[in-house]
Amino acid sequence: MILRDVSHEDFVWVWECRNDETTRKNSISSKIISLEEHLQWMEESILLSERKMMIAVEEHERIGIIRFDVEDRDTAVISINIAPKSRGRGYSQHMLEHLEVLIKSNYKDIRTLKANIKKENLISIKTFTKSGFSLYEEVQEIIILTKSLYSS
Ligand SMILES: CC(C)(COP(=O)(O)OP(=O)(O)OC[C@H]1O[C@@H](n2cnc3c(N)ncnc32)[C@H](O)[C@@H]1OP(=O)(O)O)[C@@H](O)C(=O)NCCC(=O)NCCS
Repeated sequence: MILRDVSHEDFVWVWECRNDETTRKNSISSKIISLEEHLQWMEESILLSERKMMIAVEEHERIGIIRFDVEDRDTAVISINIAPKSRGRGYSQHMLEHLEVLIKSNYKDIRTLKANIKKENLISIKTFTKSGFSLYEEVQEIIILTKSLYSS
C-alpha cells in the first residue's frame, strides 16, 4: 500500500466516500455534502499549506483517504476514511503508520498527532489506540486522542 497526494481525478471519489452513510454518522458534521460544495472545498484544500490530503492505493485501487490539518504549528489533526468496501481489513493502521513516517521526515515541526473521534465510533477509537494514541480529553460527544512522535 502507498500513500499519494490527492489529485483532481480523486475529487468525486472522495465525495462519494464522504457521503457514505457510516462516514456521515461518524463525522462531526453528518450532513450530506453537495458535489458543488465538495468540489469547492477540495479546490481550497489542495492549496492550503496547513492541510495535506492523501489517497491510500493498493494494487492500483483506491482504499481510503487520510488527511491532516496542522494546528498550533506542532500538531497534526488526523482524519481517516476508508472506502466502504475496504473497511475491516486493517488498512487504517497501515495508513497511520505510513503517515507517521511521512510526517517525521517531511514535517519536522510536528511533534504530536491528534484525532477527534465521536465517542460512539468504537472501531475508530480502537484503530487509533492500536496505533499508539491515548486519551487526551473528552469534550461532550467527542473523544480526543493524541500521540507524541518524540519521547521528550
Ligand atoms: C473507522 C475506520 C477508519 C477503521 O478503519 P478499518 O481499516 O476499517 O479498521 P480495521 O480493519 O483496522 O479494524 C479496526 C478494529 O475494528 C474491528 N472492526 C472493523 N470493522 C468492524 C465492524 N464492522 N464491526 C466490528 N468490528 C470491526 C476490527 O476487527 C479491528 O479490531 P481488531 O484489531 O481487534 O481485529 C474505517 O472503518 C472508516 O473509515 N469508517 C468510516 C469513517 C470513520 O469512522 N472515520 C474515522 C473518523 S475519526
